[in-house]
Amino acid sequence: MSRNGETNMLSKALCPSETVIRVERYPATSRLLHWLVAALVLITWPLGFFIQFTKKEVSLDFYLIHESFGFLVLWLMLLRVGNRLMARPPQPQGPAIERLAASTVHGLLYVFLIVMPVSGFLATNAHGFPLVWFGLVPVWSPLDKAPDIAWSLSAIHAWSAWILLLLFALHIGAVLLHHVIKRDNTLYRIV
Ligand code: HEM
Ligand code: HEM
Repeated sequence: MSRNGETNMLSKALCPSETVIRVERYPATSRLLHWLVAALVLITWPLGFFIQFTKKEVSLDFYLIHESFGFLVLWLMLLRVGNRLMARPPQPQGPAIERLAASTVHGLLYVFLIVMPVSGFLATNAHGFPLVWFGLVPVWSPLDKAPDIAWSLSAIHAWSAWILLLLFALHIGAVLLHHVIKRDNTLYRIV
């Protein structure tokens, strides 16, 4: 049994051999938040990128959906930080260098998943377009229209987007390394 009692038995359907594998999984709340945030980021990132290629008639809709999903990521990430402090993750696996690489990339993903929505939200307010969440709820901002810093905030948002993409590529590279090459249990820790 694991420290937090979150042991998952993989059946033969997942493991074709006769062996039953015990996997120490992330707590249920961590797994739920991981997949919710992952799905939202995988929608929000391309939406943000394609805004610049859209025609005027639809670009406002793209902005609204991009900003509203992105803002949701901020609240889910704040919940996730709280959850991370309260619900203990499973013991890290593998050699020290791999554990260091994993915790560095995971930590930076947390940081950039907060920097992204905060910089986007402040940028759009500084440009003079306050967010009305999904066209329904006006969101208060600590920053009013501020043209002198608006482009700096946009630049932070755009650069952070590419850093986030790089971190995501490293993350998926590591998942593939574990699942396809090493054929270990890492993927089952989060599903
Ligand atoms: C996880 C959350 C978010 C992700 C992953 C994300 C991603 C992106 C990406 C990839 C771009 C294109 C950058 C480029 O052209 O190089 C972009 C642009 C933009 N995003 Fe986001 N975004 C997020 C949250 C937000 C939020 C919450 C807002 C505002 C409330 C926002 C407002 C904007 C705006 C206005 C642009 C157009 C460029 C600019 O003026 O900064 N984003 N975003
Ligand atoms: C799309 C497919 C994805 C797969 C297959 C996947 C897989 C995984 C796996 C297997 C772990 C556990 C690693 C371990 O035990 O050391 C994990 C953790 C993590 N993943 Fe993903 N992931 C995906 C998408 C994403 C995305 C889009 C993000 C954010 C941009 C993300 C951020 C994280 C973070 C921050 C952790 C650390 C767990 C925590 O402490 O909350 N993942 N992921």
